[in-house]
Amino acid sequence: MRCAFLCVFVLSGPLVSAQIPDEFTNLKVLPEDISKQDLMGYMRSWSMDLGVRCAHCHAGTSEKLNDLDFASDEKKTKKIARSMFKMLEEINAQFFEPHQKQIGCYTCHDGTNDPRKLEDRLMAVYEERGIEGLEAEYREVRQKYYGKGGYNFGPWAALGAAADRLTAKEAYADAKRAHEINLEFHPNHDYSHFVIGCYHMYVGPELEKARASYRAAMKANASWTPKRLIHFAGKMHERGMPERGVAVLRILTELAPQLPDGYFSLGRALTEQGDKAGAEEAFRKALELKPDHAAASDALSKLNSEDD
Ligand code: HEC
Ligand code: HEC
Repeated sequence: MRCAFLCVFVLSGPLVSAQIPDEFTNLKVLPEDISKQDLMGYMRSWSMDLGVRCAHCHAGTSEKLNDLDFASDEKKTKKIARSMFKMLEEINAQFFEPHQKQIGCYTCHDGTNDPRKLEDRLMAVYEERGIEGLEAEYREVRQKYYGKGGYNFGPWAALGAAADRLTAKEAYADAKRAHEINLEFHPNHDYSHFVIGCYHMYVGPELEKARASYRAAMKANASWTPKRLIHFAGKMHERGMPERGVAVLRILTELAPQLPDGYFSLGRALTEQGDKAGAEEAFRKALELKPDHAAASDALSKLNSEDD
């Protein structure tokens, strides 16, 4: 019985080999006189580097080795593999002098057959099948590759980056969905909370939902969230929705009551809206929290001089 494990281990090489022809009839990039052992070395490492099986490149009636026609060029992937190999040879011959280090399929592929950035892959699927397709693709790729290299599943890459591209396309509801899935895997990613809050502000407005998301963003990151909220309030103003900008800043002063700049920004927004009393109160609050807030005291004296 002691032999069971070892025998299988030792035998598996020759067993697999028996299913592979001894003569090679269609080599165009590998040396024609290559030994079977060397050829199999390439084939195994290409399979590993791409995270695929032989049948990914070799045509056949099934995926079993016995059923594969190794010499056939029917599959596009096999032809691509040839050009990839030629590319590698050129790169290694031309660009790695004088230090002689070399790159391999793995350098780009890192265990996947599609070494593009995950966000590129997700967006390609989105163009064909929309946000449901994107979600399914993400879950599938994550299931297959997470923890095994290949793709960056960090909160800013993948879904985070795809969501930003959706926002740029003004596909706001889809961008929000991508951020929600991102939060499923990265519950403390403040930026996703922030963007979802902005979605509720911009598309709604639904103040309660916006407030809840902004609160989560603030909890996850109290130093960047206020800056982002102030910036977004400015955007609302530019887009002709100044009252929503004010609402964002009011939420900010609720969530960060000790932050002078929240009140200062609110004061400025109210000034632009012609709400002098409100603006004055906000500037005074900013000065209360930070007596040497120069911009707030300037703004306050300007307000009062206009009164005269
Ligand atoms: C990434 C694609 C790819 C994978 C995966 C792959 N091969 Fe290949 N294989 C090729 C290419 C390309 C050639 C042709 C090389 C050339 O033109 O010099 C080839 C050639 C061969 C040949 C020689 C065929 C002939 O008669 O010319 C055999 C045998 C072979 N592969 C076996 C395998 C086995 C077994 C596996 C799985 C362990 C495998 N390959 C995995 C791409 C692949
Ligand atoms: C410089 C980076 C780079 C290197 C090195 C590289 N590849 Fe690729 N490969 C790519 C990119 C990028 C793609 C995706 C292109 C696409 O599908 O649009 C790709 C796609 C492929 C595909 C098509 C996959 C599929 O499933 O459709 C095969 C096959 C492949 N590579 C084989 C290889 C093999 C074999 C090697 C090593 C001999 C290799 N590649 C080395 C960048 C590289």
